[in-house]
Amino acid sequence: MTPPDRYALVGHPVAHSKSPVIHSTFAAQTGQHLTYERLLAPLDGFVATVRTFFEQGGMGLNVTLPFKLEAHALADTLSERARAAGAVNTLKITDGNILGDNTDGAGLVTDIERNAGIALKGKRILLLGAGGAARGALLPLLHAGPISLTIANRSQEKASALAHEFAAHGNIDISGFSALQGEFDVIINATSASLSNELPQVQASIFSSATFAYDMMYGKEPTVFMKFAEQQGATVRDGLGMLVEQAAESFYLWRGVRPETAKIFSELRATLT
Ligand code: ATR
Repeated sequence: MTPPDRYALVGHPVAHSKSPVIHSTFAAQTGQHLTYERLLAPLDGFVATVRTFFEQGGMGLNVTLPFKLEAHALADTLSERARAAGAVNTLKITDGNILGDNTDGAGLVTDIERNAGIALKGKRILLLGAGGAARGALLPLLHAGPISLTIANRSQEKASALAHEFAAHGNIDISGFSALQGEFDVIINATSASLSNELPQVQASIFSSATFAYDMMYGKEPTVFMKFAEQQGATVRDGLGMLVEQAAESFYLWRGVRPETAKIFSELRATLT
């Protein structure tokens, strides 16, 4: 039997990543003959680690913190969504050419549309945050056809810069947190505030019982953002599904097969600590 094709997650740290279990599950389920490892790269050794992996016959990598920008620079070719995101979370080598892709935004949209059952077409979307996570989500969100997309960020200049950069892809409004008014159909928290148990300083009135509120972070307990949104009657969801769906999208890029995601999603949910 031929040896399995090699894939890995490269990052620093990588010890606690759920990617190996997700991809191993996908491989077993789809009958793909592959392994998926953890690759801890030294902080100053990302490029060397990637090149060695590919020289040794590795076929694809997921890239996590803090290397997504370096992966973007290293790729020979970029997908449109990776170019727009300015960051790469998936590398694939074909005939010596390294393709850089970014599946995070697609993972978000799939989780909202397919798993949560919220069609984004015609919706008023509010994106909180203007850092890397927000940037990665913008193109897939715009492609989903919302009637409006507003970016609000603590520092409004960053929101303006992002809106300006994506102007060719769709109409984007910008706002500071406190100036936000009216209700939104979908509110996505792409800030890193939840990591420190903080709440973006938005008014309660932007939520209603018709709002779907999504936090890209996830954990055993709902985030402060989810609790706040829920208090205003919103339907809430965390980012665990985005994690699984971005992995499925990477798997599809590498193998041309779409894995089923519901089972591993439930299994991961049950093991969150
Ligand atoms: P990431 O890759 O997670 O997006 P980042 O690029 O460092 O990380 O961006 C962090 C985002 O979270 C920014 O939009 C940041 O707002 P500022 O640009 O104003 O700094 C936002 N953020 C972090 N902590 C926050 C908090 N406590 N309240 C609101 N926004 C916060």
